[in-house]
Amino acid sequence: MERATVIVAIDGPSGTGKSSTSKAVAAQLGLSYLDTGAQYRAITWWMVTNGIDIDDPSAIAAVAGKPEIISGTDPSAPTITVDGTDVAAAIRTQDVTSKVSAVSAVPEVRARITELQRSIAADAENGIVVEGRDIGTTVLPDADLKIFLTASPEARAARRSGELKSTDVQATREALLKRDAADSSRKTSPLAKADDAVEVDTSDLTLQQVIECVVTLVEEKRAAK
Ligand code: DC
Repeated sequence: MERATVIVAIDGPSGTGKSSTSKAVAAQLGLSYLDTGAQYRAITWWMVTNGIDIDDPSAIAAVAGKPEIISGTDPSAPTITVDGTDVAAAIRTQDVTSKVSAVSAVPEVRARITELQRSIAADAENGIVVEGRDIGTTVLPDADLKIFLTASPEARAARRSGELKSTDVQATREALLKRDAADSSRKTSPLAKADDAVEVDTSDLTLQQVIECVVTLVEEKRAAK
């Protein structure tokens, strides 16, 4: 029997296990994978590298269409380039992380990146897992399955500190909550749970348990198609 194409939106704040879960689910089910946070980080990296004033939304808006951002959607080896340069490592620096909320709040940036995301999802032959903040609400409101991952601030800070190999969990917690507050309060498509999203609290679950939960939900959707 031929398997139905399935579009999965996974949203939630940082430190909830979104990326690890999304990649593993996509790999396990033979789907493409798109990290939309990496796209916002990539455009932020380009703004910083080209000396654009991050505190001036109109300066950001004026050049939002300039960089060419290409995302590779293989979940076992996702890639991201800006104008042909591999920026996979450069977009994870503290400098980019501290500026990405300001850049991604600019409507012209969101319009540009949203268009890119929709075209990647439309081209994914077997279906795709798209992770971000506004995928279920704005980018792909007709997704077959919407998941909203949450976790307590403590669990999220502990996970992020582990990823960053930082011992200052308190500072990580504060930085993370600050970024969430900015992402949740911006005017254009803020971080939000779609009304029809399934909420999964990952605080007390292992990564493997979260992956199994989401895989089961996707398989149920596929079977019902
Ligand atoms: O998932 P991440 O931490 O790499 O995302 C980086 C930033 O990008 C995050 O602070 C908010 C923004 N973002 C967004 O506004 N919309 C998305 N769909 C994904 C990320």
